[in-house]
Amino acid sequence: MPTLLIIDDERAIRKTLIEILSFEGYKLDEAPDGEEGLKKFREKTYDAVLCDIKMPKVDGLDFLQKAVEINPDVPIIMISGHGTIETAVEAVKKGAYDFIQKPPDLNRLLITIRNAMERNTLVSETKNLKRKAFKVQEMIGESEPIQRIKDTIDKVAPTEARILITGENGVGKELVARWVHEKSNRAEQPLVEVNCAAIPSELIESELFGHEKGSFTSAIKQRIGKFEQANGGTLFLDEIGDMSLNAQAKVLRALQEGKITRVGADKDINVDVRVIAATNKDLMKEVENKTFRLDLYHRLSVILVHVPSLNERRDDIPLLVDQFLTDICSDYGVAKKSITDDALKMLQEYNWTGNIRELRNVVERLVILSGKTISREDVQNYVVPK
Ligand SMILES: Nc1ncnc2c1ncn2[C@@H]1O[C@H](COP(=O)(O)OP(=O)(O)OP(=O)(O)O)[C@@H](O)[C@H]1O
Ligand SMILES: [Mg+2]
Repeated sequence: MPTLLIIDDERAIRKTLIEILSFEGYKLDEAPDGEEGLKKFREKTYDAVLCDIKMPKVDGLDFLQKAVEINPDVPIIMISGHGTIETAVEAVKKGAYDFIQKPPDLNRLLITIRNAMERNTLVSETKNLKRKAFKVQEMIGESEPIQRIKDTIDKVAPTEARILITGENGVGKELVARWVHEKSNRAEQPLVEVNCAAIPSELIESELFGHEKGSFTSAIKQRIGKFEQANGGTLFLDEIGDMSLNAQAKVLRALQEGKITRVGADKDINVDVRVIAATNKDLMKEVENKTFRLDLYHRLSVILVHVPSLNERRDDIPLLVDQFLTDICSDYGVAKKSITDDALKMLQEYNWTGNIRELRNVVERLVILSGKTISREDVQNYVVPK
């Protein structure tokens, strides 16, 4: 039952409101002035507050100001008398949800309260969704290599050590980087990601270090680079093996000196950034080919984390499939589907070239195309190449 707080110094008004609103199914608390109102507001989370403007001790505007500081999510509806409409309008500008006039018109009162509740639900839903969206995916798996990786993350995350993550496409390199950041002392600061393979070599410098207005033809505005954006936090340099030698030299300097220069600028900027890099290439081979700098390699690889391919840890497949079934069925809003043992066995024996990303896609395909139970035939029809 939604609970409302009514603050008004006129007893008759409180009584009327309580009568009407309890009839409509609301639970009600009351206070005769702003001071008492604030006390109650601190003790309990109300679904909405109805608050008179002119009151002794703490008046409506003061109440509003303090209440918004205490809990900005609770809608506050002002009750305005004849002389206080302007104040009510001002209150709305200061964060009140709306106002109603005395004597309260029954319909308008109920609609205003109902709308306020609806906004409330929307606000909390949005918050929940945001929290969900930003939550880092659990790292599923109990195989020896995954446990070793989790241990390493726990040990190195709180340090400032640079980490180089290697492994094939889709094995979970980015997930490792996210967890390192999440478990580090920098978790409250940004994690900024750069995909070095996706940026043309002539733009990578400005992407990483920013540029001043007019420093080159298309530089119409000043731009803050990723190193600066990540200041205080973590910079994830993904696909580092694809970075041009030119950019490598600049990154090396940034790592050595903790300083960067925007393109076209003449002064240095100090940056405090922890760098995590990832690649699916064999960087030592790139070093031999002279496409990757050995000195940069050593700077980046204080800690090496190799994420093994899914084919090397097939024991984790049942757990992963189970998790993906849960997630995907919930995304699609269907009851969780099950999978037969022999179907699961086929998935365990499959040759996974796209690793965990491929496994997730396959489970999604099976959820869409199969019945309530995913069978051996489903895997044969929808997964195994003909
Ligand atoms: N251990 C795991 N448990 C659950 N999900 C995982 C696990 N590892 C990876 N994933 C999921 O698999 C997908 C691919 O992972 P990720 O993007 O981290 O791989 P990657 O190695 O960075 O791939 P690429 O080389 O293609 O960039 C993501 O959706 C990720 O959340
Ligand atoms: Mg990746």
